[in-house]
Amino acid sequence: MYAKLKSIGAYVPDKILTNKDLEKIVDTNDEWITKRTGIKTRHIVEDNEVTSDLAYMAALNALENAEMSAEEIDMIIVATITPDYFAMPSTACIVAQKLGIVRPAVDISAACTGFIYTLAQAKAFIESNMYKNILIIGAETLSKIINWKDRTTCVLFGDGAGAAIISATSNKDEAIIDIDINADGKYSDFLITPGRGVKYGCETNRTWLEMKGNETFKVAVKTLSKSVTDILKRNNLTGENIDWFVPHQANYRIIDAVAKTVQIPKEKCVLTVQKYGNTSSASIPMAINEMVQKGKIKKGDLMLLDAFGGGFTWGSALLPFY
Ligand SMILES: CC(C)(COP(=O)(O)OP(=O)(O)OC[C@H]1O[C@@H](n2cnc3c(N)ncnc32)[C@H](O)[C@@H]1OP(=O)(O)O)[C@@H](O)C(=O)NCCC(=O)NCCS
Repeated sequence: MYAKLKSIGAYVPDKILTNKDLEKIVDTNDEWITKRTGIKTRHIVEDNEVTSDLAYMAALNALENAEMSAEEIDMIIVATITPDYFAMPSTACIVAQKLGIVRPAVDISAACTGFIYTLAQAKAFIESNMYKNILIIGAETLSKIINWKDRTTCVLFGDGAGAAIISATSNKDEAIIDIDINADGKYSDFLITPGRGVKYGCETNRTWLEMKGNETFKVAVKTLSKSVTDILKRNNLTGENIDWFVPHQANYRIIDAVAKTVQIPKEKCVLTVQKYGNTSSASIPMAINEMVQKGKIKKGDLMLLDAFGGGFTWGSALLPFY
């Protein structure tokens, strides 16, 4: 039995925050943000909206696109670093309840690489014949863990959710080809929310996301370039064989640098960071969904995904769209 990407869906909150809006909040400007990151706008939740709300809407969209009912889902995995609750219950449990089903449901924490981690988990569950249809979701309300006084981070992130249904198939042509996931904890303080765990908790007021941006940038380019080069090589493929490069959307300069190392031309690189900013675990499924909606990514197209995030974690995946 193989695992395939059966359908995709996404959801973003209505409210849009532009670079011009940010100029009124912190000492920044549209030119700096655009030049350094490519970001122009990002979507932000209302105060009463939480991650499970976005995850639920993306899940409904993926179910609709698959013409499936929630009852047909065997398991839910949610990747998020902005869960509704610290520790418990998991956001996946809340999403299952909103969908009206009682199923195994679990959150994973792999920061911006979360979607690729859930993809790997779903693939393994299906290939081991444990489940047939797994709903994986990347959902974030990063606006709630951002320090809106810190110009070095608040301009970068946005809120959103993407979902996919990973299903069993006996047709190898439809199957997810390969996934590479990895992590190195020696970089854990490069991207961190120090005051949101039991280590420091209430002892510190550092409850917001903190990032060593420049250092993160350098490790991201180097690590991702190696990950995509390796996954292509071990599958006897080159950049020329790829129809769509769908990278995690953190910064267009990272995307550009990685695409160049495997010689993927600009027209094959999916770029949505300008509209949504960095939505962490949600960015890849949101980007795939957008390209499918536009009629660009079509059935049978070969996609290369990559992602990098806090931990550091990173990964890449090769799969056709089906
Ligand atoms: C954050 C990032 C865009 C910053 O770009 P950079 O080219 O590395 O810029 P630097 O951090 O070196 O800062 C350059 C200058 O811009 C200033 N600056 C930082 N944020 C600014 C902002 N929003 N507006 C205006 N100026 C800003 C800095 O203070 C610094 O000023 P100085 O030279 O007077 O000290 C970039 O490092 C990045 O994208 N990092 C990776 C982020 C990422 O991918 N994170 C998530 C992983 S999923």
